[in-house]
Amino acid sequence: MGLTYFKRFRMEYDLRESVPASVPMPQGYELVPFAPELIRDHAIAKYQSFRWELDANVFPCLGRRDGCLRLMREITSRAGFVREATWLCRYRDPESGRPLAVGTIQGLQLDGWGAVQNLGIDPDHRGRGLGTILLSRAAEGFRAEGLPRMHLEVTTDNTSAIRLYERLGFRRAKVVYKAAEVAGV
Ligand SMILES: CC(C)(COP(=O)(O)OP(=O)(O)OC[C@H]1O[C@@H](n2cnc3c(N)ncnc32)[C@H](O)[C@@H]1OP(=O)(O)O)[C@@H](O)C(=O)NCCC(=O)NCCS
Repeated sequence: MGLTYFKRFRMEYDLRESVPASVPMPQGYELVPFAPELIRDHAIAKYQSFRWELDANVFPCLGRRDGCLRLMREITSRAGFVREATWLCRYRDPESGRPLAVGTIQGLQLDGWGAVQNLGIDPDHRGRGLGTILLSRAAEGFRAEGLPRMHLEVTTDNTSAIRLYERLGFRRAKVVYKAAEVAGV
């Protein structure tokens, strides 16, 4: 194990004038507002979304099922948890009819900002607008809470996420470094 520093952008969005534009929900998907009994589904969606991604090195809990469940419990029990900015995306499998948890976003209120936590879409369901829809819905939730701005952090190598955020109107505000213990370094 060795200590590695991951370079990340803090990205910001001013909610006073607008929220990021959404797109139509693709067929077969639904958005579900937060409820405590959905914590496990959020954790499943988080794990599926992050397990093979760079951020599972930066935040090792994202690469483990139990880590994602612990993280969801921690986020949702914080004083600044914003339930209106927390959404689950489900897909109804046409064969089994069972709803699958395929996307998640959570919101916190930190120092008067809306703070986006762990936007993630299962790799099998990317490129259909779901990330855009979840982010736009979270922004509406922050706005409904009276928060004037929102921010997030993204690893600078995560080019697809940065492209999405910039397309939706986020601006790079500063570079921050996150230290993490990485195996084989
Ligand atoms: C980043 C992430 C959330 C994006 O989710 P997504 O659902 O694929 O996002 P969208 O579908 O809204 O947008 C992705 C691309 O698909 C395109 N797209 C959206 N709807 C589309 C459609 N119906 N047809 C074709 N393309 C479409 C978008 O224009 C966008 O293109 P771009 O890459 O050129 O910007 C997802 O890749 C992910 O979970 N990554 C791993 C976890 C992660 O790193 N999260 C970010 C942490 S900061």
